[in-house]
Amino acid sequence: MTISTTVDRVPASLRDWLSKPRLMLIDGKWVQAKSGKTFEVQDPATEMLLANVAEGDAADVDAAVKAARKALDGPWGRISPSARGRIIHKIGDLILEHLDELAQLESLDNGKPFSVARVADVPLSADMFHYMSGWATKIEGKHIPLSTLAAPGQYLSYTRPEPIGVVGQIIPWNFPLLMAAWKLAPALATGCTAVLKVAEETPLSALKLGELLQEAGLPDGVVNIIPGFGETAGAALAAHPGVDKIAFTGSTEVGKLIVQAASRDLRKVSLELGGKSPNIILGDADIESAIAGATAGIFFNHGQCCNAGSRLFVQEKIFDKVAAGIAANAEKIRLGVGMDPDTEMGPLVSSVQHGRVNGYLKAGLEEGARALTGGAPLNAPGYFVKPTVLVDTHPDMKVVREEIFGPVLVATPFKEADDKLIAAANDTVYGLAAGVWSRDVAQAHRIANQIKAGTVWINCFHVFDSALPFGGYKQSGWGREMGQAVLSNYLETKAVTTKLA
Ligand code: NAI
Ligand code: MG
Repeated sequence: MTISTTVDRVPASLRDWLSKPRLMLIDGKWVQAKSGKTFEVQDPATEMLLANVAEGDAADVDAAVKAARKALDGPWGRISPSARGRIIHKIGDLILEHLDELAQLESLDNGKPFSVARVADVPLSADMFHYMSGWATKIEGKHIPLSTLAAPGQYLSYTRPEPIGVVGQIIPWNFPLLMAAWKLAPALATGCTAVLKVAEETPLSALKLGELLQEAGLPDGVVNIIPGFGETAGAALAAHPGVDKIAFTGSTEVGKLIVQAASRDLRKVSLELGGKSPNIILGDADIESAIAGATAGIFFNHGQCCNAGSRLFVQEKIFDKVAAGIAANAEKIRLGVGMDPDTEMGPLVSSVQHGRVNGYLKAGLEEGARALTGGAPLNAPGYFVKPTVLVDTHPDMKVVREEIFGPVLVATPFKEADDKLIAAANDTVYGLAAGVWSRDVAQAHRIANQIKAGTVWINCFHVFDSALPFGGYKQSGWGREMGQAVLSNYLETKAVTTKLA
């Protein structure tokens, strides 16, 4: 393959970094795969070569797990919480110091606009480390007074939260750096060590992060980073007996495989999976902000968000106006190469995703849906898909039931904000997020209470914060990412009881 022309738009230092074979991080060293294999990473805007990356498999995963165990039993197990927190904080600082470089890498590798990665992906990643650094010194047990078996004061009981151990973490390509931060920061705060398997589509920003982890003073082996494919490196990590816990973000289909692999030894699992989130606009909503919010709700990150507001429900009397407003916004979105400052939406991440999303569009139109805008494939290089709004859908269509993971909205009118609406909104195997738009505070909260989802946004969408727990009901996952809630993914609780008399 020839080298992507988009790379010309980045500084020489980064071009130089990309031109060298990128290695994996095991036990504090940058190494080739034991097999010697490499794979090509593509620029999704040009379909050209971006970098060659070491291709990890079971043998490399095994070495990484051993290194993580050694670090857990060694320096990382002995470091003070305060010193641990300072290193984690320093990682956040270094991410901000490398803001442009990381945003450029993210744009080239994933296809997303540089301007977006610069204000969203990279600062949010830094914030995750900054936020989590504070928890390192605040992971506390409790004194628990006993009643049943003891006379008061006869026993002293307390709990000790302990790191769960070596964690295997598998992440996707939609927010490559941010997903690495969501996984690594809490694992480090709780005192765990990690083997991170990055997505084969987008390994680059996490490899750059690996360099920053070393610069921050993280001891060797505390974090090991393996680029490689799901069926080989990912599956080996999920099944490795030396891993105490698996944390996975990706498709619900692979989430089920992870559970099977981990169930053999009953290893702990947390999962952040797919979604088909309802976004409900009531007749009394501020229409302009609801239209803007619903547009961003589906088209942000090209629809490649597990929490995308992909099923829009609009009260009948304003349906046409809202659907037309979103379609008009969609038409204004400028598609282009992520490194172009005018670009508002880049390509999808890969040829596989491009084919998948176009397949959904074809199926939807064949089943009778109508595209208010978009819908047809684009015949240009790069994996671009036009933002699409589908109407005249019915609840059994594939485009309504399945996660598309592209810039495709299905919009449906409803009559009243009644139980039928709630049932329709909850008529999905997923339960990750939802939106409600209304000026009636009581009504909005009543709906929020009835939606089966881990996140509900009222009069907003896509509001994320390191302090807010995020995760899924139903087949959207197990456990929560971020906030205090994520700490329990990485801790065991020990109850210690002493007889005093
Ligand atoms: P995927 O679930 O296959 O990939 C996510 C991660 O899992 C990658 O690192 C991959 O290498 C790894 N993986 C794949 N197979 C594995 C296995 N057998 N064992 C262990 N690890 C494995 O997702 P994919 O194929 O990239 O996308 C398919 C669909 O999944 C998308 O269209 C979208 O609907 C959904 N998805 C959801 C995401 C989310 O954030 N919840 C992120 C990415 C995809
Ligand atoms: Mg897959």
